[in-house]
Amino acid sequence: MQSGATRPVLLEARGIKKFYGAVEALRGIDLRIGKGETVALVGDNGAGKSTLVKIFSGAIQPSEGEIRFDGRPVDIASTDVARKLGIETVYQDLGLCENLNVADNIFLGRERMWGVGPLRFLDKRGMRAASDEALNGLSVNVPRADANVSGLSGGQRQAVALARTKLWKSALVLLDEPTAALGVQETKRAMEAVRRLQEEGVSIVLISHNMPLVLEMSQRVVVLRHGMKVGDVPTTGVSGDDIVSLITGARQTWIEAA
Ligand SMILES: Nc1ncnc2c1ncn2[C@@H]1O[C@H](COP(=O)(O)OP(=O)(O)O)[C@@H](O)[C@H]1O
Ligand SMILES: [Mg+2]
Repeated sequence: MQSGATRPVLLEARGIKKFYGAVEALRGIDLRIGKGETVALVGDNGAGKSTLVKIFSGAIQPSEGEIRFDGRPVDIASTDVARKLGIETVYQDLGLCENLNVADNIFLGRERMWGVGPLRFLDKRGMRAASDEALNGLSVNVPRADANVSGLSGGQRQAVALARTKLWKSALVLLDEPTAALGVQETKRAMEAVRRLQEEGVSIVLISHNMPLVLEMSQRVVVLRHGMKVGDVPTTGVSGDDIVSLITGARQTWIEAA
């Protein structure tokens, strides 16, 4: 509780609702993410986890509710707006383009240019060098910047996605089931990369069904059930069984003020 009370708030969401036609995917979510805090977001399939993260990443818009980022009200109208705020997302499928190489994926949407006067060119060499540098800092089996993404393993793809967040000095990284497609060894390496982000003071939202991983990586656990927040507790105060009982509804709610 102390850590939540003293930690400055990076993102604060209030009364977030999302309707998909008649489906109410989110029914008024209040959530705070502290600076440098890792919040695990858990819940059964369909609970609304991805919907909430997509709202923070600018991929979709809430039907109702407010978001403050770094103390200011923000309208995260697009993924570009999110990126400018320093919010990066690593999706389940890692969101990489198969037909591009590693460096192109890292710089996608933010290509570096060089030129003189009206002549502009892609700074391919600069982007490759910066990509290699970002990848080398990760303690994973890193691919080369000019490698094609289609030939990479799950763990290497993870490295590419994480290098992107590293290079852009993100304030908040959203990880939607980042290890769902990875083996045990690759999951371990991916979490080492996440630890590096934590050490750099990056805030993280980690969606995962892997309870040991949730308990190991997070400072706070937030549980969604049917679009409602039913749990919000410091990780040190809960067991895997506690979390599962909130997910299933065996325990109704457990909210400790953050
Ligand atoms: N694009 C969409 N159109 C209609 N319904 C959707 C869409 N995306 C999600 N939903 C619904 O919203 C609810 C929450 O989904 P989601 O956020 O993906 O849950 P989770 O990530 O926790 O599994 C589910 O009932 C799902 O079917
Ligand atoms: Mg999901």
